[in-house]
Amino acid sequence: MSTPMALTADEIEALSAKTIDARSLSYSPYSKFRVGAVLVAQDGTHIEGANVENASYGACICAEQTAIVKAVTTGYKQFKAIGVASSSGTYTSPCGICRQVLREFAPNIEIYMFAADGTFVMEPLTAMLPRSFGPEDLDVDKE
Ligand code: THU
Repeated sequence: MSTPMALTADEIEALSAKTIDARSLSYSPYSKFRVGAVLVAQDGTHIEGANVENASYGACICAEQTAIVKAVTTGYKQFKAIGVASSSGTYTSPCGICRQVLREFAPNIEIYMFAADGTFVMEPLTAMLPRSFGPEDLDVDKE
């Protein structure tokens, strides 16, 4: 039997709508690639993010990282899921750096990649970042 998903069908539908909407928060004049991300904290709270680009291209910040930084600095450090959607119309997979940033706080997080029509594919981070490196490897507690 497969592992049940962390979210119910209703919760996935709500996450889908919010994630697709979050693309409108994107500041992406260079790539024109709008990405929205919505974290679901352990208590169900949604924290939205979008990619924020910069004229100095290397300073661009991904949507997932925006969401994590907002969440952690408003008191959330435990997450069960994240939704990701882009303007590509199809499923967008978090980049490698975003996977590592998510891993710090939520090694078991479920990643829901939504297309513009609300259909999705889900992969747990454990499948997308196997044998990952985290705080335990440094024997450090997260405050
Ligand atoms: N981007 C994200 O926001 N998340 C990802 O996981 C992949 C890439 C953004 C960064 C940049 O603003 C644009 O997409 C094109 O790479």
